[in-house]
Amino acid sequence: MRCNGDTMTQSLTILGLESSCDDTAAAVVRREADGSVRILSSIVFDQADLHRAYGGVVPEIAARAHAEKLDHCVRDALQHADLGLGDLDAIAVTAGPGLIGGVISGVMCAKGLAAATGLPLIGVNHLAGHALTPRLTDAIAYPYLMLLVSGGHCQYLIARGAEDFSRLGGTIDDAPGEAFDKTARLLGLPQPGGPAVQQEAASGDARRFRFPRPLLDRDDCNLSFSGLKTALMRLRDQLIAEKGGLTRQDRADLCAGFQAAVVDVLGEKTKRALQIYLQENPAVPTVAVAGGVAANTAIRHRLETICADFGAAFTAPPLALCTDNAAMIAYAGMERFEAGARDGMDLSARPRWPLDQSSPAMLGSGKKGAKA
Ligand code: KG4
Ligand code: ZN
Repeated sequence: MRCNGDTMTQSLTILGLESSCDDTAAAVVRREADGSVRILSSIVFDQADLHRAYGGVVPEIAARAHAEKLDHCVRDALQHADLGLGDLDAIAVTAGPGLIGGVISGVMCAKGLAAATGLPLIGVNHLAGHALTPRLTDAIAYPYLMLLVSGGHCQYLIARGAEDFSRLGGTIDDAPGEAFDKTARLLGLPQPGGPAVQQEAASGDARRFRFPRPLLDRDDCNLSFSGLKTALMRLRDQLIAEKGGLTRQDRADLCAGFQAAVVDVLGEKTKRALQIYLQENPAVPTVAVAGGVAANTAIRHRLETICADFGAAFTAPPLALCTDNAAMIAYAGMERFEAGARDGMDLSARPRWPLDQSSPAMLGSGKKGAKA
């Protein structure tokens, strides 16, 4: 809190911690007295190198690395912001959903800091962090339609408040990023698969191979991506059986066909989500997208086109804030703090934590932990 001239105006400075998957992160975010929000620092330690040899995130390795790195990330975040613990107003931490060992590491670290400093502790839902990011980056107003598309998540949400979300639908199996990663693995392309598949697809013919468009016959907002991977495996094996291997062009055409199917499915389901959203919110059509898959230019262009057709504004945060980071956790914690929320030392780490408590639980868990 700060004094500004003779009027007492308040700024709010929050430290955020994130450790729910394979990124260890700490950040400091401040709301200035004039209401504007600034990211004072955002430190992300990417564990990709530790997991590469295993072809996926190993929960035990992730948890150990979080426990080792979190305090370093906190120190660096404070240093970059040029602040000490005494300059903070609260400590926000991801309390779920995610890989439980990592979430526990973050929650314990945050509790230690809160106990030592006397600062309030705020537990944050990781998905709320993603879903509120467009408010941090573009100050968009509630309500808005949110599409979360990453390696671990895929869902449509109507965001009405920091803790008020309606889930319109989501994936019933793989997340789209997972499907891109598996496609890359099947074709011998590097991880993470999304950028590699996108690059190959650029020189491919999307019409050469026929990929399914799962669940488009259903009039809801649920999606499915696991069938695309099976189709790709079948087509790949057929080509290998016929010709003894894959040419560069075969690989590019397979990537193009796969990507076109993902674009079509996300495009059609986004239209359905927009129709539902517009029935309730005719005056304020705003659509936001977040998550690593939002980096895909073909997906982004299709979403932009659809939004333009519906007369809706389209927002996509910069990539560094679309993927996992702690600035989004600090910001979501700030909104909870401003609404009066406080957590105690009994804050628990939750492997599953759906944003919309009234929607049915998603089954299964992906390579990055529980879906919600
Ligand atoms: O949000 P994120 O960093 O991590 C979580 O899943 O939480 O997303 C990573 C995912 C990976 O599966 C990666 O392959 C995918 O995002 N991705 C992309 C692209 N860039 C990253 N998928 C498609 N096209 C891209 N250009
Ligand atoms: Zn995430």
